[in-house]
Amino acid sequence: MKILGIETSCDETSAAVLSNGEVLSNIISSQLIHKKYGGVVPELASRAHQKLIIPVVDEALQISKTDLSQIDGIAVTYGPGLIGALMVGLNFAKALAYQLNLPLVGVNHMHAHLYSNFLTHKELDYPFVCLIVSGGHTQLVYVEKPLIHRLLGETLDDAAGEAYDKVAKMLGLGFPGGPQIDKLASEGNPDYVKFPRAYLDKEGFEFSFSGIKTSVLYWLKKKKYYSDVNIIKIPQDELRNLCASFQSAVVEVLVNKTFLAAEKFNVKNIAISGGVSANSELRKRLIKIGKEKNIKVFVPDMEYCTDNAAMTAFVGEMLLVRNIKSPFDLTAKANLSIEEF
Ligand code: KG4
Ligand code: ZN
Repeated sequence: MKILGIETSCDETSAAVLSNGEVLSNIISSQLIHKKYGGVVPELASRAHQKLIIPVVDEALQISKTDLSQIDGIAVTYGPGLIGALMVGLNFAKALAYQLNLPLVGVNHMHAHLYSNFLTHKELDYPFVCLIVSGGHTQLVYVEKPLIHRLLGETLDDAAGEAYDKVAKMLGLGFPGGPQIDKLASEGNPDYVKFPRAYLDKEGFEFSFSGIKTSVLYWLKKKKYYSDVNIIKIPQDELRNLCASFQSAVVEVLVNKTFLAAEKFNVKNIAISGGVSANSELRKRLIKIGKEKNIKVFVPDMEYCTDNAAMTAFVGEMLLVRNIKSPFDLTAKANLSIEEF
């Protein structure tokens, strides 16, 4: 079975061709236009998707040496995400599927993240606990078997990646901030500032990252490193230590709650996914503690961490082989929950 996957939920325009779970191509065009605004501008994202969707799909077909006549089904992200951005991919997929008389299947973007580890690790076994950490989401999910999963908890305010991006903006580091903070943190002292760890309910799986962002702001103001009008240059060693302290607080909570979930549900496998799963400290700590606790930790290849259509096509195939298709009046859903199909 050959599936064409299409993903346009945020600021990546992506298309992929999968053949029986094998990725033949996975083209990701990241929209650079948002950099100067310090965050994704929804209207600009929709316009960029419109410009990019045809060339990106063409390239995915070319690289995979696939003709449209060889495609058996089209999988497309229909939520959650930016409504205008989702509509570009969904309408394109509908038109193509209708014209070619192919089955169409709408994919929940969170399911794509949830099962993305299988693209890299065929050996990942059910049940597992998945931590989805991106710019828009921080969720812990218990995955019992294929397409049977349950949300354990999520962030009540900012997503982890959002906290990284907002702190990076305060520091004048540009967008997206995660990779830059990660790099600076690797050379800093994580014990330099003791930022708050928001565990909320000790036994629960809810997260909160807006408090730490505010603590960073207060710290910067106290040190006179912050002004509302211009960016103040922070000495490099202070910057490194600050990044390391912030990262340590965020990662500690993510790691501890993930292991808490694994132990509570007695699972021996943990998977992580989403843009923040590229974080070096998160990977390192999860793997280290996993070894101590005899729990296997699975991390996807970098290209499957951030938004990509290969993971959309993968879930599309899971649905289509079970004969689950979508009607042509499927609409985009900005707030689609992880519990919905
Ligand atoms: O999954 P993604 O590409 O897009 C969505 O938000 O759906 O994730 C992007 C997020 C951004 O917030 C970015 O700062 C963060 O992932 N990110 C990182 C790292 N690389 C990307 N955060 C921390 N450390 C990184 N190395
Ligand atoms: Zn995503």
